[in-house]
Amino acid sequence: MYENILYEVKDHVGYLTINRPKALNALCTAVLEEIDDCLDTKIAPDNDVHVVVVTGAGRAFVAGADISEMQTKPVLEGHDYTELGHKVMDKIDNSPKVFIAAVNGFALGGGCELSMACDIRIASEKALFGQPEVGLGITPGFGGTQRLPRLVGKGMAKYMILAAKNVKADEALRIGLVQQVVPAEELMPTVEKLAKSIAAKAPIAVQQSKMAINNGMNTDLRTGCRLEIEGFQQCFASEDRVEGMSAFVEKRDPVFQNK
Ligand code: HXC
Repeated sequence: MYENILYEVKDHVGYLTINRPKALNALCTAVLEEIDDCLDTKIAPDNDVHVVVVTGAGRAFVAGADISEMQTKPVLEGHDYTELGHKVMDKIDNSPKVFIAAVNGFALGGGCELSMACDIRIASEKALFGQPEVGLGITPGFGGTQRLPRLVGKGMAKYMILAAKNVKADEALRIGLVQQVVPAEELMPTVEKLAKSIAAKAPIAVQQSKMAINNGMNTDLRTGCRLEIEGFQQCFASEDRVEGMSAFVEKRDPVFQNK
Protein backbone atom coordinates (compact mmCIF):
# COMPACT_ATOMS: atom_id res chain seq x y z
CA MET A 1 0.00 0.00 0.00
CA TYR A 2 2.97 2.35 0.54
CA GLU A 3 5.32 3.32 -2.29
CA ASN A 4 8.35 4.44 -0.29
CA ILE A 5 8.28 2.50 2.95
CA LEU A 6 7.79 -1.09 4.07
CA TYR A 7 6.14 -2.09 7.32
CA GLU A 8 5.82 -5.59 8.73
CA VAL A 9 5.38 -7.18 12.14
CA LYS A 10 7.41 -10.22 13.20
CA ASP A 11 7.23 -11.73 16.68
CA HIS A 12 5.52 -8.65 18.14
CA VAL A 13 8.22 -6.30 16.76
CA GLY A 14 7.41 -3.77 14.01
CA TYR A 15 9.93 -3.22 11.20
CA LEU A 16 9.68 0.10 9.37
CA THR A 17 12.04 0.27 6.38
CA ILE A 18 12.57 3.44 4.37
CA ASN A 19 12.55 1.95 0.87
CA ARG A 20 13.82 4.47 -1.68
CA PRO A 21 17.29 3.06 -2.24
CA LYS A 22 17.88 4.80 -5.60
CA ALA A 23 17.80 8.15 -3.79
CA LEU A 24 19.58 6.70 -0.73
CA ASN A 25 16.21 6.80 1.08
CA ALA A 26 16.04 10.61 1.01
CA LEU A 27 13.01 11.87 2.92
CA CYS A 28 10.86 13.54 0.29
CA THR A 29 7.40 14.76 1.31
CA ALA A 30 5.79 11.48 0.19
CA VAL A 31 8.13 9.43 2.41
CA LEU A 32 7.41 11.62 5.42
CA GLU A 33 3.66 11.41 4.79
CA GLU A 34 3.84 7.63 4.51
CA ILE A 35 5.82 7.32 7.75
CA ASP A 36 3.30 9.62 9.42
CA ASP A 37 0.38 7.51 8.18
CA CYS A 38 2.09 4.28 9.23
CA LEU A 39 2.70 5.66 12.73
CA ASP A 40 -0.97 6.68 13.06
CA THR A 41 -2.78 3.79 11.41
CA LYS A 42 -0.54 0.76 11.86
CA ILE A 43 1.87 1.29 14.74
CA ALA A 44 -0.04 3.37 17.33
CA PRO A 45 -3.22 1.25 17.39
CA ASP A 46 -1.38 -2.11 17.51
CA ASN A 47 -1.38 -3.17 21.15
CA ASP A 48 0.69 -6.27 20.34
CA VAL A 49 3.65 -4.20 19.15
CA HIS A 50 5.70 -2.43 21.80
CA VAL A 51 8.98 -2.09 19.91
CA VAL A 52 9.60 -0.78 16.38
CA VAL A 53 12.83 -1.05 14.40
CA VAL A 54 13.54 1.71 11.86
CA THR A 55 16.06 1.03 9.09
CA GLY A 56 16.86 1.82 5.46
CA ALA A 57 16.84 -0.38 2.35
CA GLY A 58 20.13 -0.74 0.47
CA ARG A 59 23.37 1.02 1.38
CA ALA A 60 21.91 4.02 3.23
CA PHE A 61 19.88 4.49 6.38
CA VAL A 62 18.64 7.87 5.12
CA ALA A 63 20.89 10.36 3.28
CA GLY A 64 18.79 13.32 4.38
CA ALA A 65 15.79 15.31 3.36
CA ASP A 66 15.29 15.25 -0.41
CA ILE A 67 17.54 17.98 -1.78
CA SER A 68 16.13 17.79 -5.33
CA GLU A 69 12.62 18.30 -3.99
CA MET A 70 13.69 21.12 -1.66
CA GLN A 71 15.52 22.86 -4.50
CA THR A 72 12.24 23.42 -6.36
CA LYS A 73 10.14 24.43 -3.35
CA PRO A 74 8.79 27.99 -3.20
CA VAL A 75 10.00 29.96 -0.17
CA LEU A 76 6.71 29.69 1.70
CA GLU A 77 6.72 25.87 1.55
CA GLY A 78 9.93 25.66 3.56
CA HIS A 79 7.94 26.11 6.74
CA ASP A 80 5.48 23.32 5.88
CA TYR A 81 8.35 20.94 5.11
CA THR A 82 10.18 21.49 8.38
CA GLU A 83 6.84 21.27 10.26
CA LEU A 84 6.02 17.95 8.59
CA GLY A 85 9.43 16.51 9.47
CA HIS A 86 9.11 17.73 13.06
CA LYS A 87 5.62 16.22 13.34
CA VAL A 88 6.94 12.81 12.31
CA MET A 89 10.03 12.98 14.57
CA ASP A 90 7.90 14.12 17.54
CA LYS A 91 5.46 11.22 17.05
CA ILE A 92 8.36 8.76 17.20
CA ASP A 93 10.05 10.47 20.14
CA ASN A 94 6.81 10.78 22.14
CA SER A 95 5.34 7.40 21.25
CA PRO A 96 4.78 5.09 24.22
CA LYS A 97 6.46 2.41 22.09
CA VAL A 98 10.24 1.99 21.88
CA PHE A 99 11.88 2.83 18.55
CA ILE A 100 15.30 1.40 17.69
CA ALA A 101 17.23 2.84 14.74
CA ALA A 102 19.22 0.14 12.94
CA VAL A 103 21.64 2.46 11.15
CA ASN A 104 22.96 0.50 8.19
CA GLY A 105 24.76 3.28 6.28
CA PHE A 106 24.54 7.03 5.64
CA ALA A 107 22.56 8.84 8.34
CA LEU A 108 22.94 12.40 7.14
CA GLY A 109 20.80 15.49 7.75
CA GLY A 110 17.22 14.30 8.12
CA GLY A 111 18.58 10.75 8.39
CA CYS A 112 20.67 11.58 11.43
CA GLU A 113 17.61 13.40 12.79
CA LEU A 114 15.36 10.39 12.19
CA SER A 115 17.82 8.16 14.04
CA MET A 116 17.94 10.66 16.93
CA ALA A 117 14.14 10.72 17.24
CA CYS A 118 14.41 6.99 17.98
CA ASP A 119 15.13 5.85 21.54
CA ILE A 120 18.22 3.73 20.82
CA ARG A 121 20.66 3.69 17.88
CA ILE A 122 22.60 0.57 16.88
CA ALA A 123 25.01 1.15 14.00
CA SER A 124 26.74 -0.96 11.41
CA GLU A 125 30.48 -0.35 11.05
CA LYS A 126 29.53 1.21 7.69
CA ALA A 127 27.32 3.91 9.21
CA LEU A 128 28.17 7.58 8.80
CA PHE A 129 26.44 10.32 10.81
CA GLY A 130 26.32 14.03 10.09
CA GLN A 131 24.36 17.22 9.76
CA PRO A 132 25.71 18.73 6.51
CA GLU A 133 22.89 21.27 6.10
CA VAL A 134 24.94 24.46 6.47
CA GLY A 135 26.72 23.50 3.25
CA LEU A 136 23.32 23.68 1.53
CA GLY A 137 22.46 27.07 3.01
CA ILE A 138 20.02 25.78 5.63
CA THR A 139 19.99 24.74 9.27
CA PRO A 140 19.07 21.21 10.28
CA GLY A 141 15.27 21.21 10.07
CA PHE A 142 13.94 17.97 11.56
CA GLY A 143 15.21 18.51 15.12
CA GLY A 144 18.99 18.21 14.72
CA THR A 145 19.88 21.46 16.49
CA GLN A 146 17.89 20.26 19.51
CA ARG A 147 18.31 16.48 19.74
CA LEU A 148 22.02 16.33 18.80
CA PRO A 149 23.26 18.55 21.70
CA ARG A 150 21.01 16.63 24.09
CA LEU A 151 22.70 13.40 23.02
CA VAL A 152 26.34 14.42 22.54
CA GLY A 153 26.66 17.78 24.33
CA LYS A 154 26.73 21.32 23.02
CA GLY A 155 30.39 21.41 21.95
CA MET A 156 30.33 18.24 19.84
CA ALA A 157 26.94 19.20 18.37
CA LYS A 158 28.33 22.57 17.31
CA TYR A 159 31.43 20.88 15.86
CA MET A 160 29.23 18.58 13.79
CA ILE A 161 26.60 21.13 12.75
CA LEU A 162 28.57 24.38 12.31
CA ALA A 163 31.51 22.73 10.53
CA ALA A 164 29.37 20.02 8.87
CA LYS A 165 31.73 17.35 10.22
CA ASN A 166 30.51 13.81 9.64
CA VAL A 167 31.39 11.11 12.15
CA LYS A 168 31.99 7.43 11.45
CA ALA A 169 30.39 4.69 13.52
CA ASP A 170 33.29 4.26 15.98
CA GLU A 171 33.38 8.01 16.66
CA ALA A 172 29.58 8.07 17.00
CA LEU A 173 29.92 5.39 19.67
CA ARG A 174 32.67 7.33 21.48
CA ILE A 175 30.56 10.51 21.67
CA GLY A 176 27.41 8.68 22.75
CA LEU A 177 25.44 9.19 19.56
CA VAL A 178 25.03 5.43 19.14
CA GLN A 179 24.83 2.74 21.78
CA GLN A 180 26.52 -0.13 19.92
CA VAL A 181 28.48 -0.71 16.69
CA VAL A 182 28.50 -4.11 15.02
CA PRO A 183 29.72 -5.58 11.71
CA ALA A 184 27.21 -4.97 8.90
CA GLU A 185 26.02 -8.57 8.75
CA GLU A 186 25.33 -8.60 12.48
CA LEU A 187 23.24 -5.41 12.50
CA MET A 188 19.76 -6.83 12.05
CA PRO A 189 20.31 -9.94 14.25
CA THR A 190 21.68 -7.69 17.01
CA VAL A 191 18.78 -5.24 16.72
CA GLU A 192 16.23 -8.05 16.55
CA LYS A 193 17.62 -9.57 19.76
CA LEU A 194 17.54 -6.19 21.49
CA ALA A 195 13.99 -5.50 20.27
CA LYS A 196 12.77 -8.87 21.55
CA SER A 197 14.45 -8.37 24.91
CA ILE A 198 12.68 -5.02 25.35
CA ALA A 199 9.38 -6.49 24.11
CA ALA A 200 9.65 -9.22 26.78
CA LYS A 201 9.67 -6.66 29.61
CA ALA A 202 6.54 -5.21 31.24
CA PRO A 203 5.18 -2.75 28.66
CA ILE A 204 3.88 -0.28 31.25
CA ALA A 205 7.28 -0.19 32.96
CA VAL A 206 9.11 0.38 29.66
CA GLN A 207 6.62 3.09 28.64
CA GLN A 208 6.75 4.91 31.96
CA SER A 209 10.55 4.76 31.98
CA LYS A 210 10.73 6.25 28.46
CA MET A 211 8.32 9.04 29.36
CA ALA A 212 10.13 9.85 32.62
CA ILE A 213 13.45 10.09 30.78
CA ASN A 214 12.03 12.16 27.90
CA ASN A 215 9.93 14.53 29.98
CA GLY A 216 12.52 14.73 32.74
CA MET A 217 15.23 15.82 30.27
CA ASN A 218 13.04 18.81 29.39
CA THR A 219 12.71 20.03 32.94
CA ASP A 220 14.67 20.50 36.17
CA LEU A 221 15.84 17.59 38.34
CA ARG A 222 13.22 18.12 41.05
CA THR A 223 10.32 18.15 38.56
CA GLY A 224 11.84 15.18 36.74
CA CYS A 225 11.98 13.19 39.97
CA ARG A 226 8.29 13.97 40.59
CA LEU A 227 7.56 12.56 37.12
CA GLU A 228 9.46 9.41 38.05
CA ILE A 229 7.44 9.04 41.27
CA GLU A 230 4.16 9.29 39.32
CA GLY A 231 5.32 6.78 36.70
CA PHE A 232 6.56 4.39 39.38
CA GLN A 233 3.21 4.49 41.16
CA GLN A 234 1.32 3.77 37.92
CA CYS A 235 3.49 0.68 37.47
CA PHE A 236 3.04 -0.28 41.12
CA ALA A 237 -0.74 -0.28 40.60
CA SER A 238 -0.49 -2.57 37.56
CA GLU A 239 -1.11 -6.32 37.31
CA ASP A 240 2.21 -6.65 35.52
CA ARG A 241 4.01 -5.41 38.66
CA VAL A 242 2.36 -8.21 40.65
CA GLU A 243 3.33 -10.71 37.94
CA GLY A 244 6.93 -9.48 37.65
CA MET A 245 7.59 -9.66 41.37
CA SER A 246 5.73 -12.98 41.82
CA ALA A 247 7.76 -14.50 38.97
CA PHE A 248 11.00 -13.42 40.66
CA VAL A 249 10.00 -14.87 44.01
CA GLU A 250 8.71 -18.08 42.37
CA LYS A 251 11.91 -18.37 40.27
CA ARG A 252 10.11 -18.43 36.89
CA ASP A 253 9.91 -16.17 33.84
CA PRO A 254 7.19 -13.49 34.06
CA VAL A 255 4.28 -13.47 31.62
CA PHE A 256 3.24 -9.86 31.21
CA GLN A 257 -0.29 -9.00 30.04
CA ASN A 258 0.14 -5.25 29.55
CA LYS A 259 -2.36 -4.63 32.34
C1 HXC B 1 18.06 13.68 -2.80
C2 HXC B 1 19.85 12.23 -2.84
C3 HXC B 1 20.19 12.60 -1.52
C4 HXC B 1 19.39 13.58 -0.85
C5 HXC B 1 21.61 11.13 -2.23
N1 HXC B 1 20.73 11.31 -3.23
N2 HXC B 1 21.31 11.91 -1.17
N3 HXC B 1 18.77 12.75 -3.47
N4 HXC B 1 18.34 14.10 -1.54
N5 HXC B 1 19.63 13.97 0.41
C6 HXC B 1 20.72 10.66 -4.53
C7 HXC B 1 21.82 11.20 -5.43
O1 HXC B 1 21.41 12.39 -6.05
C8 HXC B 1 21.99 10.05 -6.42
O2 HXC B 1 20.92 10.11 -7.36
C9 HXC B 1 21.76 8.82 -5.54
O3 HXC B 1 21.04 9.28 -4.40
C10 HXC B 1 23.07 8.20 -5.09
O4 HXC B 1 23.84 9.21 -4.48
P1 HXC B 1 25.36 9.50 -4.91
O5 HXC B 1 25.65 10.90 -4.47
O6 HXC B 1 25.60 9.15 -6.32
O7 HXC B 1 26.12 8.44 -3.98
P2 HXC B 1 27.59 8.59 -3.36
O8 HXC B 1 28.56 9.17 -4.34
O9 HXC B 1 27.90 7.27 -2.75
O10 HXC B 1 27.43 9.69 -2.19
C11 HXC B 1 26.58 9.40 -1.08
C12 HXC B 1 26.36 10.69 -0.23
C13 HXC B 1 25.85 11.81 -1.18
C14 HXC B 1 27.68 11.10 0.41
C15 HXC B 1 25.35 10.33 0.84
O11 HXC B 1 24.74 11.29 -1.94
C16 HXC B 1 25.39 13.02 -0.42
O12 HXC B 1 26.22 13.83 -0.01
N6 HXC B 1 24.07 13.18 -0.29
C17 HXC B 1 23.49 14.36 0.33
C18 HXC B 1 23.66 14.31 1.82
C19 HXC B 1 23.08 15.54 2.49
O13 HXC B 1 23.55 16.67 2.23
N7 HXC B 1 22.06 15.37 3.35
C20 HXC B 1 21.40 16.45 4.01
C21 HXC B 1 20.23 16.90 3.19
S1 HXC B 1 19.46 18.33 3.89
P3 HXC B 1 21.19 9.90 -8.93
O14 HXC B 1 19.83 10.12 -9.54
O15 HXC B 1 22.20 10.89 -9.34
O16 HXC B 1 21.66 8.47 -9.03
C22 HXC B 1 18.51 17.76 5.13
C23 HXC B 1 17.70 18.82 5.80
C24 HXC B 1 16.69 18.26 6.77
O17 HXC B 1 18.51 16.62 5.44
C25 HXC B 1 15.69 19.30 7.17
C26 HXC B 1 14.81 19.85 6.09
C27 HXC B 1 13.72 20.74 6.59
